[in-house]
Amino acid sequence: MRITACIFDLDGVIVDTAKYHYLAWKKLTNQLGIHFTEEDNERLKGVSRMASLEIILEIGNIKADENQKHEYATRKNQWYVDYISKMTPDEILPGSLSFIREIRNAGLRVAIGSASRNTPMILERVGISDLFDAVADGNIVKKAKPDPDVFLKAAEMIDTKPERCVVFEDAVAGIQAALNAGMMCIGIGSAEILKQAHFVISGLNEMNLRKLEAFERNEKFL
Ligand code: BG6
Ligand code: MG
Repeated sequence: MRITACIFDLDGVIVDTAKYHYLAWKKLTNQLGIHFTEEDNERLKGVSRMASLEIILEIGNIKADENQKHEYATRKNQWYVDYISKMTPDEILPGSLSFIREIRNAGLRVAIGSASRNTPMILERVGISDLFDAVADGNIVKKAKPDPDVFLKAAEMIDTKPERCVVFEDAVAGIQAALNAGMMCIGIGSAEILKQAHFVISGLNEMNLRKLEAFERNEKFL
């Protein structure tokens, strides 16, 4: 197979943490008197912590200096960490584990490529820290998606050329990052939103090795 590695975004692909990000941002926006909806939260998917805060302050039309921004982001992260520290393996999205185990058994390499600086804690809480050959996350990469950095770093860590990697991503910014890295990309979510992906599925429960091979041959596999 030309595909020799799969790189997975974490939030929204392997675990459903968007709800915790939303609840934590909601607490902050309530304190700041900003009207923040679940629809607004969609704009934060795949976006780094500070860039998310900038979007929220823009929605609320609030000016803040660097110290205040740092304090707001820290406050939000403490609530978020409270939520994710209670996560359990039950919160792994359906089909993720079996697909990753199947491709690993077939000799493919697997890595995480996530903007989140909480990646190690989430992997540990849901019990999958040992499932990946490499983890590239917001702690080691400075430029956020759609910059390709995080995926290029992941590919380098597993010693794989970008054109041999497939990225699984649920965020528009993440799909752009994968394409900017010169990788193939399968979107997780709605085809209307993730238009730029090479193919879109609703979740990893729709994937298996046979379908990955069909994707490589450019066949419709669903
Ligand atoms: C991404 C999420 O994976 O990580 C974003 O989709 C989040 O919503 C970003 O803002 C950064 O996460 P963290 O955990 O470092 O605040
Ligand atoms: Mg995501």
